[in-house]
Amino acid sequence: MILLSRPSASLILGGVVTVLAGPCDLYAAGKTPCVAAHATTRALYDSYSGALYQVKRGSDGATADIKPISAGRVANAASQDTFCNGTTCVISIIYDQSGRGNHLRQGPPGGAASGPNGGYDNLASAIGAPVTLDGKKAYGVFISPGSGYRNDATNGVATGDQAEGIYAVIDGTHFNSGCCFDYGNAEISNRDTGSGHMEAVYFGDNSFWGTGSGNGPWIMADMENGLFSGFNVANNPADPSISDRFITAIVKGKPNQWAIRGGNAVSGSLSTFYSGARPNTSGYNPMSKEGAIILGIGGDNSISAQGTFYEGVMTSGYPSDATESAVQANIVAAKYATTSLTSGPAVNVGSSISFRATTPGFDTRYLMHNGSTVDTQVVTSSSSATLKGQASWTVRTGLGNAACVSFESKDTPGSFIRHYAFQLQLSANDGTKQFFEDATFCPQAGINGEGNSIRSWSYPTRFFRHYADVGYIASEGGPEVFDATSSYNEDVTWIVGNSFA
Ligand SMILES: *[C@@H]1O[C@H](CO)[C@@H](O)[C@H](O)[C@H]1NC(C)=O
Ligand SMILES: *[C@@H]1O[C@H](CO)[C@@H](O)[C@H](O)[C@H]1NC(C)=O
Ligand SMILES: *[C@@H]1O[C@H](CO)[C@@H](O)[C@H](O)[C@H]1NC(C)=O
Repeated sequence: MILLSRPSASLILGGVVTVLAGPCDLYAAGKTPCVAAHATTRALYDSYSGALYQVKRGSDGATADIKPISAGRVANAASQDTFCNGTTCVISIIYDQSGRGNHLRQGPPGGAASGPNGGYDNLASAIGAPVTLDGKKAYGVFISPGSGYRNDATNGVATGDQAEGIYAVIDGTHFNSGCCFDYGNAEISNRDTGSGHMEAVYFGDNSFWGTGSGNGPWIMADMENGLFSGFNVANNPADPSISDRFITAIVKGKPNQWAIRGGNAVSGSLSTFYSGARPNTSGYNPMSKEGAIILGIGGDNSISAQGTFYEGVMTSGYPSDATESAVQANIVAAKYATTSLTSGPAVNVGSSISFRATTPGFDTRYLMHNGSTVDTQVVTSSSSATLKGQASWTVRTGLGNAACVSFESKDTPGSFIRHYAFQLQLSANDGTKQFFEDATFCPQAGINGEGNSIRSWSYPTRFFRHYADVGYIASEGGPEVFDATSSYNEDVTWIVGNSFA
């Protein structure tokens, strides 16, 4: 038995124990090879040392490929951090490691929705989903509503009723009920061409079609015109609500047979939530798969879902449960874990703070609220008590994610800074998941080298910005007027100081 320092799993082939280090080596040994292999976190083949993903930076539009630290291993996150230092970065390409060139790029417009960038979807922040694998930092793909990736001209991906397997490792705490956080097989036209034209892993708590037990979120299969938790669009009590932080989610299908499987990606084994015949409503038997690949969107480019993707593959052939067990052991051995979402000067929970702008000519202005409007005003020690109160905030544990923070108004307790249509506003906490998420921000080292930049948890390409003295969450060079590149780094950098009140 060879001992490897990297994650490994063994498979008994004809009585010989073979040590294999990547999920796609295991699928190949099971005679169901990967035809697409996507991961921003690690190599999915023992021998893979090529590019995992490409980042594009806001300062000059330059791109860089991020590779594993060595063949078969975790991504070199430090190379991204260096390339993106002092600016913003998005994930512009997620490369296919299978050798078939099935790379994922910015999703094009589709039948359900056109994205905000001349019809194209948004790209994900390169820093929205930091994790560690066996203690080494890597970044996942944090999909906010409006973001998505696609490839409509693939090679080797199942079409028609051909067999395939799909798995994805995702964040079980980042989801919504929008359609549809998917990874898998979809239409090549970006349009709904009918039932049975998709076969993708779905994760979220959409209850418009199928449901499982409890309130969700659930792993389901998007087969077009329906999210399936089991045989037909219905409730399948055997498909459980899942709350693990890291999840392995599986959908696989072959002629008149398909399955949903899942488990905790950091421990234990997989369970089968459905395995049986195809739906007997029209269109699903036989299937009419088209072979495009989507991530974070529906087959018709529905773009209202959110979720986080770390790694996933699509295979040729219907993987055996034994092969998937070996893959699950490999994922567990990769040791996914959470890491800090913040950096820079500490913004401590319980402290009373103010935000001073750093843009030259505006650096005596502070973020304040006037009623529900959040804008900037010049505030000094001799300002009125009213104005001082309007510009003072208490740092609270993040309402939507305890690893980040929320900002409660000093003079209006119970009201917090949130974003709404990407503008900042002060609103009373209404107790909804939407409010919690929109009021959660992750302070990081200031992008212009001073103080802090305040990143939106739910839209991590976007940071607190003052623009024409009004508060927004802005992405560098994004589609909104207040996303303008001019003086972006200064406008999104703040000195977090003591409060006035
Ligand atoms: C970013 O740049 C700053 C200033 O030049 C430097 O102190 C810091 O170490 C750099 N960080 C990384 C990750 O390169
Ligand atoms: C579909 O399957 C269900 C459950 O077995 C059955 O009740 C129903 O009659 C079937 N429908 C068709 C159109 O075959
Ligand atoms: C607050 O808004 C009101 C109404 O628009 C305006 O009259 C007032 O001057 C504003 N106060 C500050 C401090 O901006």
